[in-house]
Amino acid sequence: QTKGFIFDLDGVIVDTAKYHFLAWRSLANQLGFDFTENDNEKLKGISRVKSLEMILEWGNITLPEEEFNKQMALKNEEYLAHISDMNASEILPDVEKTLEYLKNKQQKIALGSASKNASPILERVGLLDTFKVIVDGNAVTKGKPNPEVFLKGAKGLDLNPEACIVFEDSISGIQAANKANMISIGIGDSKVLHEADYVFKDFTEISEAFINKLIENENA
Ligand code: BG6
Ligand code: MG
Repeated sequence: QTKGFIFDLDGVIVDTAKYHFLAWRSLANQLGFDFTENDNEKLKGISRVKSLEMILEWGNITLPEEEFNKQMALKNEEYLAHISDMNASEILPDVEKTLEYLKNKQQKIALGSASKNASPILERVGLLDTFKVIVDGNAVTKGKPNPEVFLKGAKGLDLNPEACIVFEDSISGIQAANKANMISIGIGDSKVLHEADYVFKDFTEISEAFINKLIENENA
């Protein structure tokens, strides 16, 4: 069978979730408040605009539009500085091994990310050619937990949503995958990602036998 494997980017393929956190946190600190790593879970998978809206709400701050846009640009500047000299060493453990295995099994692979920085990051770590279908923050109008990003991914792969499997590190992304009727696989903490169909700490915990089962699964 041919299944579609849709990968989130930040926190799944590369360790960039920590850079988003650092940049948002320094923005909050500059505005005179702080938020925790626990709060940060709510920001994962969330677009740049929506993230800033949430953070300002936590700090009880409203900004005029011009200032809002300026803060968003400053955050992205700091984030870009963190990722400027990124290379393949920041690909998370066994991600490449999993991608290779899926390719050898003639499975379809797509990217489903909220980030507008997705393509340059994939390019920097040498994975741009691996993803023939890229649905990123530039391609969607409704962010996760809306399923649009993954439904577009399935369409790009020419598969039914039911034939797709999503790897996600965010609560909002797991919810999006579930709403899209896809199999959701959480990468991270099982307590945080309890809505996922399966959760693994990272790709080193995902066996070939498990992937084979996903491929052979008849429900699609
Ligand atoms: C998601 C991240 O992948 O992309 C979020 O989990 C981030 O933290 C979002 O806000 C948007 O990213 P960018 O690169 O367009 O600011
Ligand atoms: Mg993510």
